[in-house]
Amino acid sequence: ALRDNTIIVVLGASGDLAKKKTFPALFGLYRQGFLPRDVKIVGYARTKMDKAEYHKRLSSYFKTNDDPEIIKAAEDFKAVSTYISGSYEEPEAFQVLNSHLEEIEAGYASKEANRVFYFALPPSVFVPVAKNLKEQCYVANGVNRVIVEKPFGKDLDSARELLSSLKEYWTEDETFRIDHYLGKEMVKNLLVLRFANIALGAAWDKNFISNVQITFKEPFGTEGRGGYFDEFGMIRDVLQNHLLQVLSILTMERPVSFSAEDIRDEKVKVLRSIPPIAKEDTLLGQYVAANGKPGYLDDDTVPPNSICPTFAATTLWIHNPRWEGVPFILKAGKALNEAKVEVRIQFKDVTQGIFKDIARNELVIRIQPSEAVYLKMNAKTPGLYTRAMPTEMDLTYKRRFAEAKIPEAYEALILDALKGDHSNFVRHDELDVAWKIFTPILHWIDGKNGARPRPAPYPYGSRGPKELEGFINKYGFKRA
Ligand code: BG6
Repeated sequence: ALRDNTIIVVLGASGDLAKKKTFPALFGLYRQGFLPRDVKIVGYARTKMDKAEYHKRLSSYFKTNDDPEIIKAAEDFKAVSTYISGSYEEPEAFQVLNSHLEEIEAGYASKEANRVFYFALPPSVFVPVAKNLKEQCYVANGVNRVIVEKPFGKDLDSARELLSSLKEYWTEDETFRIDHYLGKEMVKNLLVLRFANIALGAAWDKNFISNVQITFKEPFGTEGRGGYFDEFGMIRDVLQNHLLQVLSILTMERPVSFSAEDIRDEKVKVLRSIPPIAKEDTLLGQYVAANGKPGYLDDDTVPPNSICPTFAATTLWIHNPRWEGVPFILKAGKALNEAKVEVRIQFKDVTQGIFKDIARNELVIRIQPSEAVYLKMNAKTPGLYTRAMPTEMDLTYKRRFAEAKIPEAYEALILDALKGDHSNFVRHDELDVAWKIFTPILHWIDGKNGARPRPAPYPYGSRGPKELEGFINKYGFKRA
């Protein structure tokens, strides 16, 4: 449950994540009445700003659409928002922050005080901030929580090191590791689709499913974010976390309950059945200039001659009785032809005989944009003859749930963290096994054991490297 007497502290309040995600989500929750009644929101960052400047900045983060109600809510939000500037390394700076928090708490009727610290920070300061918060800003009468987000290291060893450093200060129970894909409505829906539908559940294995693709496409390149991106690459940016999370929910066994530990136990179990990805099961790409758009190497923030992949397709295999032999293709790319994230489950052919060369069933779960679930199925073409044609059973959210407001991922996750619900956060062992799956291939790409592989070029705005079609077909995908 939500607790009164809660302060949310956003560290890195003047940065990009805070601007694009954290504050808009906090405002969304606030406006809809989801935050504790007496909530206070404190920003903390290095930039020196007075209250007026800070409030002006906050205003620029919110979309009010000239709606008087939203404008009023933004004013109210600012009234509960204050700002402290200080370094991330010095304990004294955090003493100042603590005094500010204590001042707020002095106004509470009860002794209980709860503090939630949101790290909208670069990973280089995760550890000093975690340490300073624990040592200077930890309350005894209430809960203390930290919300952190990737990058959690660059491979298995560095992730383990980071996690164990953070663990010195914050327990697993106090830590909420965000993977914002777990907050997306359609990702949450996977559990219901699979386990609340006996018909779907019955066909959910190697006997019926031929291959699965989990696809992430963005129509824009790194555009100024190249400095960050080049250090990580597509696999670390999207596959190792977002797409693998989707995969684990899609393939896990049914959890005993909806409790966070029951769900995450099953996710870890299925992930542990996946061996590290093989080179042969990998296709890398990098976008080049086309259609008046710049190539990756034309981005000033990208090091010259970088061979960092901006596209990656990898095929994973799950060694358990349910999934043995079924290829799971994870693919993601920047600067492609469209914005789309979807899961495409292709079923096997029907037995040959009365029907020949008939389209396969496919269940498509579109995560974004425009959430939808549709099943491609064959039906008789209406008329005085018997011919089958591919059609769709279509659950498009905009039509079926026209009135519903689909929550933003960050809204859902921040609310869960305030309630103390870990179900949609990444447990330490999940992260560990995710790195185990990807570390060998990442080391190969980084040139740790020989020459670095060259990504295949693909034009900005295309569907990816020309090798992609062959790559997918190799795993049995049949285009209808
Ligand atoms: C982030 C990646 O984690 O996810 C970005 O670092 C990517 O590179 C983003 O653009 C995609 O998130 P969404 O919610 O827009 O699909």
